[in-house]
Amino acid sequence: MTNADDNTPDDGATPSMISMQHVDKTFGSLHVLKDIELEVPAGQVVIVLGPSGSGKSTLCRTINRLEPIDSGTIAIDGKPLPAEGRALAKLRADVGMVFQSFNLFAHKTILENVTLGPVKVRKVGKDDARTRALELLDRVGIANQADKYPAQLSGGQQQRVAIARALAMGPKVMLFDEPTSALDPEMVNEVLDVMTALAKEGMTMLVVTHEMGFARRAGDRVLFMSDGEIVEDTDPETFFTDPRSDRAKDFLGKILSH
Ligand SMILES: Nc1ncnc2c1ncn2[C@@H]1O[C@H](COP(=O)(O)OP(=O)(O)OP(=O)(O)O)[C@@H](O)[C@H]1O
Ligand SMILES: [Mg+2]
Repeated sequence: MTNADDNTPDDGATPSMISMQHVDKTFGSLHVLKDIELEVPAGQVVIVLGPSGSGKSTLCRTINRLEPIDSGTIAIDGKPLPAEGRALAKLRADVGMVFQSFNLFAHKTILENVTLGPVKVRKVGKDDARTRALELLDRVGIANQADKYPAQLSGGQQQRVAIARALAMGPKVMLFDEPTSALDPEMVNEVLDVMTALAKEGMTMLVVTHEMGFARRAGDRVLFMSDGEIVEDTDPETFFTDPRSDRAKDFLGKILSH
């Protein structure tokens, strides 16, 4: 007998933080995610690599339902993603996402950018939201910029605000889609340092990145995608030193040679 409200598996095992089963996604005739199977335990840092167009961003976007899927199931912390409505908004708040472009509200201060979500979606009181936002801004090294507007900050600072804003919702999972790709080289490390600290604190993270040093240092696991499939799923050391598939060898040959 099953109870609809009880998502605990029968075998008593802890549910994965992210679970994707037989996930398929098409855009018209283009099959962009092909039978994706992925179980990410709590606290794991998963690096997603693969050539352009292989489906990395789409994978991220399906996990917080920015993109609907055609078939299969996705669950966060044992709860299947609801189709729409209030339950979806709440579950989406459990999944923080940071994109290549910072997407801050230009007409709001840094502090307002970080408090808006908790106040509107999580129904946190304004004073509590402010206290928490200042703590988070301090953690990402920009507490002294709280009253400025996004345009007054560097790209690296804006991206750190975007991370603080996502964390302010108290997410269980953080998704990063090429968070440093739009940054000038000297700002990349300040963002990667914040992400490394977050990983050490035990956040469950899925990170699409071209920063191979970070992938090797901070990743627990590498997924290599090609043509909408997870072609390799292994630990970073094995992936970088002993890739199995020709597609991964070809990819590594291209990126490691420049
Ligand atoms: N909204 C959309 N409508 C139609 N096709 C799309 C859409 N979004 C993505 N695609 C296509 O789906 C495929 C996968 O795209 P996706 O953005 O997930 O790749 P990616 O691995 O993130 O690539 P990149 O490294 O360039 O960011 C590509 O062929 C892309 O053109
Ligand atoms: Mg992408």
